[in-house]
Amino acid sequence: MDSIGVIGAGQMGAGIAQVSAQAGYRVLLSDMSQARAAAGKAGIAKQLDRLVTKEKLTADARDAALALIEPVESVAEMAPAFLVIEAATEREEIKRAIFGEVGKVLSADAVLASNTSSIPITRLAQAAPDAARFVGVHFFNPVPVMGLIELIRGLATSDATVATVEAYATRLGKHVVRANDAPGFIVNRVLMPMLNEACFALGEGVATVRDIDLACQLGLNHPMGPLTLADFIGLDTCLEIIRVLFEGTGDPKFRPAPVLVKYVEAGWFGRKVGRGFYDYNGPEPVPTR
Ligand code: 3HC
Repeated sequence: MDSIGVIGAGQMGAGIAQVSAQAGYRVLLSDMSQARAAAGKAGIAKQLDRLVTKEKLTADARDAALALIEPVESVAEMAPAFLVIEAATEREEIKRAIFGEVGKVLSADAVLASNTSSIPITRLAQAAPDAARFVGVHFFNPVPVMGLIELIRGLATSDATVATVEAYATRLGKHVVRANDAPGFIVNRVLMPMLNEACFALGEGVATVRDIDLACQLGLNHPMGPLTLADFIGLDTCLEIIRVLFEGTGDPKFRPAPVLVKYVEAGWFGRKVGRGFYDYNGPEPVPTR
């Protein structure tokens, strides 16, 4: 009963694996290959080391958590899991293919959850082995720091599935909010228009990158300015989500800002590639424009 599967060992998947192992779950971690899953585990080891250095975690607790994480070759090894969380690339066809693969081995009462930030859960459930045992479980970045999980029910999601995920989230020490299966759920419905509007403001010459960020950081008491946060999330991801809001509602208030589109077209995806609204290659981030 204590094994979970995490599919995707990138930023979100590794974070989910880390907090799950720290809560005592055995974690089967997969990615495109075992080497990538192992690289995800190595990144988790670094995060846990930092906690030990800061005396927020004992060396024994770090070792215990790491011992619980097993990088596996593929999702075919996830049969022992009572809960499998997919945190792969935010592309529907990739997620659908993964659900088909994992569906071949998932046990008859196991739950399959997607960490999608914006794809409709009811639609994704069509590719899952059983729509009643499929649910959205949306974590926030950085997973070990952020206290929230959005739980999104598809049309067919059963009460038992919701209860399984709530019990898991509670053991992680996260707060759960329930959101309906509407575009962007709660957080991205509210956040993305703000980030998009900051891009419009930049494009219209309202202020510089630095001043837009400083204004929101100090004027609203946000930990990061909107352009810094967009870089942190990934500009490609932000664009993807604002497009889901735009297409899902048909409301022009969600149309993507041309500046955001341009940066994504340039491949300036933000912090993960070293360049977005800021350049991250030096000792301090410097605005690129
Ligand atoms: N992993 C683990 N821990 C991390 C971390 C990471 N990637 N980054 C920072 N931390 C920890 C630090 O270790 C530190 O811990 P401590 O207080 O115990 O020492 C703490 O977070 C604060 O970090 P720092 O002092 O280094 O830096 P900041 O005070 O600037 O905090 C931040 C960094 C927590 C990232 C903060 O800037 C923040 O909260 N930013 C906003 C993040 C946010 O809005 N996330 C949601 C994005 S939306 C989303 O994920 C949904 C998706 O669908 C788009």
